[in-house]
Amino acid sequence: MTLIEMALEARSNAHAPYSHFLVGAALEASDGRVFTGCNIENATYGLSICAERVAIFKAISEGVVKFQRIAVSADTDVLTPPCGACRQILWEFCGDIELTLTNLHGKTETLHLKDLFPRPFDASFI
Ligand code: THU
Repeated sequence: MTLIEMALEARSNAHAPYSHFLVGAALEASDGRVFTGCNIENATYGLSICAERVAIFKAISEGVVKFQRIAVSADTDVLTPPCGACRQILWEFCGDIELTLTNLHGKTETLHLKDLFPRPFDASFI
């Protein structure tokens, strides 16, 4: 299964009864292991978490810290990019990672985080 297919499959587990906007993510570690995630919403809204962060936090919590690419899937014609919070978290743990955005109709785009998130604030400032 490709990383895109894994992101699409993860999307089917999304818990999004409030927005009805389902997202999946598949994060590939440098050793080839893949950590998937889906968005998980909550009745208090603010406790909701995006698919990308679920995937990253799953990996980090299992001691995996080096990553090579991530795929993100959503059902939009204009491909859905990671939100601002996820860009910050991705930068923290993955640096200038390769991102592939995909929808349900086979449209894909591959880019690097630096292009979506120029001039990041990070540990180098502290
Ligand atoms: N969402 C993600 O999971 N990832 C994105 O890249 C964009 C937004 C989720 C958050 C929320 O559950 C729903 O999509 C609508 O914003």
